[in-house]
Amino acid sequence: MTKWAWIALPALLLVGCSKKHEQPAAEPEKATLHEVMKNEVDTRADDVWAVGNAHIDEDAGMDGKSMTDADWTRLAGAATTLQQAALDIANLPNPIVVVKPGAKIAFEDTDWGDSAASVQRNVDKDPQGVRDLANSLAEHSGEIVTAARKHDAGAAGKLINELDGICESCHVKYWYPSQRKLIDTIRKNTGEDPST
Ligand code: HEC
Repeated sequence: MTKWAWIALPALLLVGCSKKHEQPAAEPEKATLHEVMKNEVDTRADDVWAVGNAHIDEDAGMDGKSMTDADWTRLAGAATTLQQAALDIANLPNPIVVVKPGAKIAFEDTDWGDSAASVQRNVDKDPQGVRDLANSLAEHSGEIVTAARKHDAGAAGKLINELDGICESCHVKYWYPSQRKLIDTIRKNTGEDPST
């Protein structure tokens, strides 16, 4: 009896130790806004713009005549994955975390770039706003899917042109609000409507 207890006790201690080590690793990593933005939203929007740019007409709309069935399928597919990426942002777990500890965002190391910490403060001020704007992007992407399935070049061209403004409406609030004035000035000078 005594002999077995003596052997079993260190074995139990060992199990206890290894469990403690394994537990944090077994937990799924929490997704951050930065990763979903960089790896999903940005790349998939590029796929949508790639189709739009390849078939642009002289009025900056979509040249429907040059769109093949394969092009429409590609557009619908790209917009479907963009919609999913936007929903991934909208459904980030609470509280929304911008970056993994120590990670940096684009331009953070320049004189003018905003830091991950300042983006986190903007997000913490109004996390529901992030979800709402992400849902708007999801809805807009869904409309591109519908237009692509209908082979509706008029609607698709207009929606793809509007896409950039949807990205920016969130960036200017959460990423670089300090540059709002600068952007408005540029827009005024280039004749664009600053309210869009
Ligand atoms: C719901 C809000 C929201 C929407 C919508 C949104 N973004 Fe972002 N995006 C952010 C925030 C916040 C940051 C700053 C944090 C960061 O850089 O990851 C960011 C950063 C980025 C970055 C820089 C990533 C990096 O390396 O730091 C890119 C590129 C980007 N967005 C592309 C897009 C594109 C393209 C769209 C539209 C198709 C879009 N975003 C729509 C919130 C949004």
